[in-house]
Amino acid sequence: MSQAQQAAGIRFDHVGVTYANGFVGLDDITLRIDSGEMVAVVGLSGAGKSTLVRTINGLVPISSGQITVGGVGLKDLRGKGLRTVRSEVGMIFQSFNLAKRTTVINNVLMGRLYHTPAWRTLLAAWKRDDVELAMQALERVEIVHKAYANASELSGGQQQRVAIARSLAQRPRVILADEPTASLDPPTSHVVMRDLQRINAELGITVVVNLHFLDLARRYGQRVIGLRGGRLVFDGPGADADAGVFESIYGRSLTAEDMLPGHQQAAV
Ligand SMILES: Nc1ncnc2c1ncn2[C@@H]1O[C@H](COP(=O)(O)OP(=O)(O)O)[C@@H](O)[C@H]1O
Ligand SMILES: [Mg+2]
Repeated sequence: MSQAQQAAGIRFDHVGVTYANGFVGLDDITLRIDSGEMVAVVGLSGAGKSTLVRTINGLVPISSGQITVGGVGLKDLRGKGLRTVRSEVGMIFQSFNLAKRTTVINNVLMGRLYHTPAWRTLLAAWKRDDVELAMQALERVEIVHKAYANASELSGGQQQRVAIARSLAQRPRVILADEPTASLDPPTSHVVMRDLQRINAELGITVVVNLHFLDLARRYGQRVIGLRGGRLVFDGPGADADAGVFESIYGRSLTAEDMLPGHQQAAV
């Protein structure tokens, strides 16, 4: 691996997160995610998946250890330094978080906010290049025909694809997705996961995606990270995440409810 690739990666060194109420959200996490990897994070509800991804863009501050993103240490980073890291890290949520009362293209242009002076955004005086970039991002998730529709008119799957386009317009090096398919039906979940997979493969953007279903994680994560009680209990190729691994992550054996509906037959 080249030095540049290493520099663009994400490193956790003995990272701990203790919330204000004393709850330990992450406990001594050490891992390295190289630039261009696609990693799925799995675990029970409360295992620390959201906490983990939110530390990567500084949304959750770390209490101990260090995280570096592109060689920049996040602990105690604030102001301009933190904004720079955030500009390189796109974020996608379960609930899409679109501005519903405006158009799709306006939502995607919000991804350019990090790179645009405030007066331009206040006047909505977007540069042609920004509009072009936003359109390209919509093309990449195959929803450019909806550019001038109101965001509220879109289905859940379409809204999530707009959210992906918005993060792409940011020109990120990393995309963090926190259970991006949790509000979607199974076929749409696959569409969104395939979008993320394509973005990872074609643009070389590092993707870290939290998933509730292990079968989705195995299918789309070249690498699966398992969390339990804030600790790392598995880190390996999706293909190695067998029934024994499942038990170590979930503390019990696998049932049909652990699979994305319609995929009960998939072998784990
Ligand atoms: N702001 C907070 N204050 C206190 N505890 C929190 C806070 N945010 C999350 N937690 C707790 O940390 C644990 C891990 O949460 P989270 O990272 O959201 O897990 P997951 O995404 O895997 O469901 C949970 O037990 C949750 O209740
Ligand atoms: Mg969560």
